[in-house]
Amino acid sequence: MNVKNIKSFIDFYKSLEISTCIAPLPRSLEKQDQKQQVIQKSKILKKVKFNPKNKEEKLKELVEEIKASNCDLKDVATNTVFSDGHNDSKVMLIGEAPGAEEDLIGKPFVGQAGKLLDKMMESINLSRRKNFYITNLVFWRPPGNRNPNKEEISTCLPLTKKHISIIKPKMLILLGNVASQAILSSKEGISVMRKKENYYIDRDLSLKIPVKTIFHPAYLLRNPIEKKTMWSDLLDIDEFILTNNII
Ligand code: URA
Repeated sequence: MNVKNIKSFIDFYKSLEISTCIAPLPRSLEKQDQKQQVIQKSKILKKVKFNPKNKEEKLKELVEEIKASNCDLKDVATNTVFSDGHNDSKVMLIGEAPGAEEDLIGKPFVGQAGKLLDKMMESINLSRRKNFYITNLVFWRPPGNRNPNKEEISTCLPLTKKHISIIKPKMLILLGNVASQAILSSKEGISVMRKKENYYIDRDLSLKIPVKTIFHPAYLLRNPIEKKTMWSDLLDIDEFILTNNII
């Protein structure tokens, strides 16, 4: 619009007795306004993404889903044993199934094997009070501490996988044959698996988490001769954590 046109435009408005009008923001201000909106939106997104309450809520929902699931073990157990440790930990440990003491208290690894596990982890500066999260593949005690059977594992496995996807650790430590074979869909024994580089992969969620499989602490209690092997695995875990800045 040239000056002449602007003048006739104003005259036209004056003739209609209109003295004010709503003008759009000058371009520079408009850009600033858009920038502000982008910043505001990303702040909201960050809050949603990193809100710890969000994770807590998902875990609460998962507990309800577990309690409502169709596993026979539920009927003979005293408690559902879910987890212990900080849910924002970068290291997640998964055992097999609760034993007698865990069943009574409702927390994983509180018996003799759990005490040994805590000592082992503390030797490489890992503690459930500080920096690891722990759960089991199966959430109820199998009677007489037998191994969980195929049906029990197939009921609990999708829930455990959901558990992993909520915690999203940077490293998984699987304890013993049963948890390792189920979570890695492998038929290999722990003695073979522990020497390999393993990953837990969930393609739907684009998750690829490094895994270390180690002997179950209960096995170690029965076979103290394997302590040397365990010590070497713990050193590997420690080195992996340090070189990959996991904690
Ligand atoms: N053994 C497990 O695998 N889990 C527990 O919680 C206790 C013993």
